[in-house]
Formats: sequence, C-alpha cells, structure tokens
Amino acid sequence: MSNEHHRRSNDLPEPEADAFAHSQRLSKHIEAEITAKGPLSFARFMELALYAPGLGYYSAGAHKLGREGDFITAPDLSPLFAQCIARQCAQVLTFLHEGDILEFGAGSGNLAADILLSLEEQKILPRHYFILEISADLRQRQQACLAKRIPQWLDRIVWLDTLPATFRGVILANEVLDAMPVHRFKIQQGQIQECFVDFAQGAFVERLLKATNPCLLEAVQSLDKYLTEGYESEVSLTIAPWLASIHAFFQQGLILLIDYGFVRREYYHVQRNAGTLMCHYQHRAHSNPLIFLGLQDITAHIDFTHVAETAQKLGLEIAGFTNQASFLLSCGLAELLASSTNDIAAQWAINQQVKMLTLPSEMGELFKVMALTRDLPIPLVGFTLQDWCNRL
Ligand SMILES: C[S@@+](CC[C@H](N)C(=O)[O-])C[C@H]1O[C@@H](n2cnc3c(N)ncnc32)[C@H](O)[C@@H]1O
Repeated sequence: MSNEHHRRSNDLPEPEADAFAHSQRLSKHIEAEITAKGPLSFARFMELALYAPGLGYYSAGAHKLGREGDFITAPDLSPLFAQCIARQCAQVLTFLHEGDILEFGAGSGNLAADILLSLEEQKILPRHYFILEISADLRQRQQACLAKRIPQWLDRIVWLDTLPATFRGVILANEVLDAMPVHRFKIQQGQIQECFVDFAQGAFVERLLKATNPCLLEAVQSLDKYLTEGYESEVSLTIAPWLASIHAFFQQGLILLIDYGFVRREYYHVQRNAGTLMCHYQHRAHSNPLIFLGLQDITAHIDFTHVAETAQKLGLEIAGFTNQASFLLSCGLAELLASSTNDIAAQWAINQQVKMLTLPSEMGELFKVMALTRDLPIPLVGFTLQDWCNRL
C-alpha cells in the first residue's frame, strides 16, 4: 500500500446503505461464533473479518484494491514494478532452463499481466503462471483482467485450488504476508496477556485475558529482551505454517516476498509500543479493527527476522534482503524508466510513479524484499546494489 494513503483520520466516511447491510451480516456471523465459543482470539476475529466465506473483506465484493477501493499496491501504481520483478524472474528461469511462476494473492491481476508481457519480450516465458488466490471475488477480477490484457497467454495461467505437488521456479507474494491474521498481546504486571474480541452491549470490544496458547507464549517469550511493562504488539503464528506448506512442494528456485516490515529489533523497538496493526478504509488509515467489518482491510507489518528464522529452520537459504528501492534499482529500474516513453506528459506521470515506488518517504524504505532460495547457487540480480542479510 502506498504511503500516500497512510494518513490517519478520525472523520471516516459512513458506508453506503448496501455496504452497511453487508457489514451487519458479517458482524452477525462473528457475533454468532462468539456466542457459541466465547471471546475469539484477535487472530480468529481478523481471519473472519477478512476471509469469512462470502462475507469477509477479501472474500466478498468490496472494491478493495485501486483508486475506487481502499488502498493501492505497487503493481497497480506502475507496470515498472512488475517489469523489475520480471527481470529477477528471468534470471532464475534462465538458470533453471525451464520453470514455472506461482503468485500468491494476485490482487487485480496486473502484476501477472505485466510480468508475462515483460518475460515475453525477454523471450523467457514460464511454462505456467500459477495463481493461488483464496478470495473468490479477486479470482474473478484477475480472470477478467488477464483475459482482457493478455488473451494470448491465458492458456499458461492456471488458478490453483490447492498447493501443487511439486514446483520448480519462482514463487511471488506481494503484500500477502501482511494480510495474514496476527495474534495481539500486551505485557501487564510482567505477564503476557492475549487480546480477545468479545461482543457486549451491541458492540465488539477487546478483552485482555491471561495468555494460555502455548504457541503465542513461546513466540512472545522469545521477544523477551525487547518487551517492557505495558508493551503491546502482535506476532504472526500463520507465516511459519504457510512457509512450511510451501517448503513441502518447493523443489528448486526462488521465493520472493515483498511487504512492509522491519527486522526484529526495529519491529519491537521500545518506541513502537502499540504494535503495527492498521486498517485501510477508503484510502484512510486508522487503527480500529472493530468497526466497518468486511468493508476495511486489516493488516500488520512483517517481522522479517521471524521469516528468515523460519526459512532457515526449513533448510531454505536467505539469498537476499533489502528495501524496495534498492531491489527495483538493482533490477534496472533506471534503464526501464529511461526507455519507457518519449512523450513529455507521459514521462512526468511515470516519474511520479517511480517516486512513489522508491522514495524513502513513500514505499522505497518501509517495503522490504526477501529472497529465499533452494538449490539456486547464483547471486540474485535484485540484491546487487545492497544486501542486508547480515542485519536480520
Ligand atoms: C493486500 S492484498 C495484495 C494483493 C496483491 N498481491 C497486490 O499486491 O496488489 C492481499 C492478498 O493476499 C491474499 N492472501 C492472503 N492470505 C493468503 C494465502 N494464505 N494464500 C493466498 N493468498 C492469500 C488475499 O486474498 C489478497 O488477495
């Protein structure tokens, strides 16, 4: 999501009647689960708010991505983003001689379209471009987008319902990890409290209860040296099983993860004592996940040290870690920009896109790129200018 839209706002616009009714249906669904089971862990609440079948923010018909939606991601800001990623893909596909691409959570479909167009130009198309999209609504939009933009390559694009049995090639996940449910905690009187969501007097409320979930306790205890009294934050208990599920079928190649986040000591810095949870609603960012259910995105930053540790335990190599600006420049952003157009007005617009992608005050610094590899002994082009693996 571009920083342009990270403004905090207290005056959030009221939803239209249809959207409000939809939100009420999702609220009833979550309320029913609370009535049946008691307060929900925040992670379960977030899972339902985003992915409850037919109702959640990603599962149902909210606009979500793009100028008419709630936020804009890099692939929809500029095709240059995809062209740079395509160069990284081309290097790996060339080394492997033959391989596939698998994109998780493909959003509007523009990243897939622009990568395939660029690889066509470079004459190194993958055998298949697989998409694994858990949102039925986004899957339909991707199908429409790709049928319109690259009908000539539709036979190579395959939407998967389950993970493949084996895979060689490049796996891509842009802003996917940040959309995975997180557990929230607070340190109170030296104890770890977990944040639950309850329903009381007609509204969702947060409740802090003594943490008993052993996985949460283990994750928070491992952060011990960073946490002070009153400290609130979140941990991901979903990224590790997700990576393990990929590792089970990933035979050779590159996993490229792009998302906003920090190394652990920055993530759990003493000054970031309220965590990183954020909601996106009609291009406004705010911090209340209990409102506008099904109408707003809920997201948390990524602890890339956690991702690296998990990958290492699985036997993957951490082959690169840098910020988005450096990755794009290493992949040849400047040359792509120079050759993009001769039209002055169009050039101005493209320059603006490049600024959004690379300026430290926009997406250039907060967004990181991590490369995990298996049996891929080549220096990756995206990390030639800068590699921060030793900072993890
Ligand atoms: C913030 S959107 C980003 C979409 C797109 N990658 C982009 O950059 O525009 C998050 C996406 O991740 C998807 N997602 C979340 N968890 C997923 C998972 N476990 N497998 C596949 N997709 C997932 C959501 O359905 C949604 O499409």
